[in-house]
Amino acid sequence: MTVTLFDTHAQIESVRPELERRIAEVIDTGRFILGPEVAAFEEEFARYLGVRHVVGVANGTDALTLSLRALGIERGADVVVPSFTFYATAEAIVNVGAKPVFCDVDLDTFNITAETVERALTSATGAVVAVHLFGMPAPMTELRELADERGIALVEDAAQAAGARIDGKRAGSFGDAASFSFFPSKNLFCLGDGGAIATSRDDVAERARLLRTHGSRDKQSYAAIGVNSRLDAIQAAVLRVLLPRLDEANAARRALAAAYEEACATAGLDGEVRLPAAAPGAEPVHHLYVTRVERPDELVRALSEAGIEARSLYRAPIHRQPPMAQFAAGAELPGTDRAAETNLALPMGPTHPPEVARRVTEALRAALCGPPRP
Ligand SMILES: Cc1ncc(COP(=O)(O)O)c(C=O)c1O
Repeated sequence: MTVTLFDTHAQIESVRPELERRIAEVIDTGRFILGPEVAAFEEEFARYLGVRHVVGVANGTDALTLSLRALGIERGADVVVPSFTFYATAEAIVNVGAKPVFCDVDLDTFNITAETVERALTSATGAVVAVHLFGMPAPMTELRELADERGIALVEDAAQAAGARIDGKRAGSFGDAASFSFFPSKNLFCLGDGGAIATSRDDVAERARLLRTHGSRDKQSYAAIGVNSRLDAIQAAVLRVLLPRLDEANAARRALAAAYEEACATAGLDGEVRLPAAAPGAEPVHHLYVTRVERPDELVRALSEAGIEARSLYRAPIHRQPPMAQFAAGAELPGTDRAAETNLALPMGPTHPPEVARRVTEALRAALCGPPRP
């Protein structure tokens, strides 16, 4: 049987009767966009994150765009952002009229640090976007200190990190605003597109709520030029089924990560396969389990022959994508380039049993060292 890279389908099947019942209940209400179901999810997710407000929107990209706009980041501002992330993180900055300034990442965590951000600050910097990449928390305490010192806004792109913690606090509760995506492969997901903004700032929540509904509160008068970006009630109902199970699912991901660590150490692969290493105080949620190896393409082929899905991500980082070249002149990001060249995601998910780690590690060992001696 093929070992898949992630396991959304198995997670859905494990709660399918409850999902079907809750979706049927929403159909009966006849309220399909925003409304009480979305408000209930917003309240529950805010409580879970330890923030004052959650604002449900149509997807994670809009959550980022509207977070920036709600913070007043628009034309003329520079926004520091990693290049080693999903394209949407930087795309949102361009779409609000601001300029992305790419900063480098630490190879151990794949994340930005206060030091890499500091090198990219300019006199026009209005905000920093920290991404918790692959579910590895970015160092929010030092980034918060830096942002406060410089008087700039801090935004968290927490699309890949629902439930992660840093020093006991949830990812998404450190920034002036944080964005979440509920795309079906994410740790907290719905059955289509969905997203949310988390913030403890009343002014940011108020502005984001206005912007997501065309800048109007009453559909009669308009206080801003907004967008149409609302969370659907059916998706909120799905999220309300999955949110109470998120911590258990994330713990299962960490158990699989521990099984990978044990299997790799036993197979003597520590030197050749660098496993994800969380920073002190960080509790990762392993959205993807991304290792670092030399020649990842050869290993993808070897694993595929053994019936195991594996993939390298963001092979061309954002500053090397042609539409972003106008913002990348002179950008030297050696950590980013190295991360792009050497990363390899291995199967990870809450319904993957620990045997997956042993099977994958055995296939890696065979590819790197040849068949075991008789
Ligand atoms: C880091 C990151 N940022 C932003 C997004 C955009 O989210 P969405 O696809 O819901 O628009 C994603 C997800 O796809 C992501 O992984």
